[in-house]
Amino acid sequence: MKNIVIFGAPGAGKGTQSDKMIEKYGLGHISTGDVLRNEIKNGTELGKTAKGYIDNGQLIPDELMIDILASVYDSFGKDHAGVIFDGFPRTTPQAEALKKMLSERGHKIAAMIELAVPEDELMARLLNRGKLSGRSDDNEETIKKRLNVYHTQTAPLIDWYEKEGIHHHIEGLGTVDEIFARVCNVIDNL
Ligand code: AP5
Repeated sequence: MKNIVIFGAPGAGKGTQSDKMIEKYGLGHISTGDVLRNEIKNGTELGKTAKGYIDNGQLIPDELMIDILASVYDSFGKDHAGVIFDGFPRTTPQAEALKKMLSERGHKIAAMIELAVPEDELMARLLNRGKLSGRSDDNEETIKKRLNVYHTQTAPLIDWYEKEGIHHHIEGLGTVDEIFARVCNVIDNL
């Protein structure tokens, strides 16, 4: 079983590469951003709380995210080929909670794959997506806040996973297929 964390700044291509990994490897996919946007769409209490944070480019508090983690993971059943974690973890407490939740089930993360993309490219990709999709957090002001949150709260996880011995750095510039070939090179060698 190959549980994988796909990691990177907003706009690094986590969702794009996840789609290709799902297709090739038959993995399940947990995107906490998608989970939250779905809660907002359905008007749930969690959705109402999450909207304020998302539109302001801030992270939802750890305890709320950690609360939903196990039930979302268990929804894939016991015999899955593995799950891609996309957008989770984003803080050290989330990484610790993920490790604990998996180890309680006899599972683990096989690899953390970091997509490294320069900031000007991230901004260009997200502004372009905002124009096409109308995602409420894809405007210049909120993107700057999201990038700042990434640097201060999320990027320290690179060292955290390096110490776990499962961090893989990948250049995230190039065509989607070129980057996917780099991702496959990691997964196929696990
Ligand atoms: P989330 O939905 O996770 O957003 P994000 O991390 O900001 O990531 P994005 O979806 O913006 O980018 P991506 O890396 O998936 O890139 P994509 O493939 O789409 O989170 C949103 C919010 O929810 C957070 O800000 C937070 O408030 C909250 N949240 C979520 N999880 C949380 C957690 N664990 N804890 C607390 N809060 C949480 O690509 C981006 C664009 O680039 C696309 O248009 C794509 O077509 C294009 N693109 C992709 N690859 C390439 C390429 N190689 N070349 C050119 N363009 C490309």
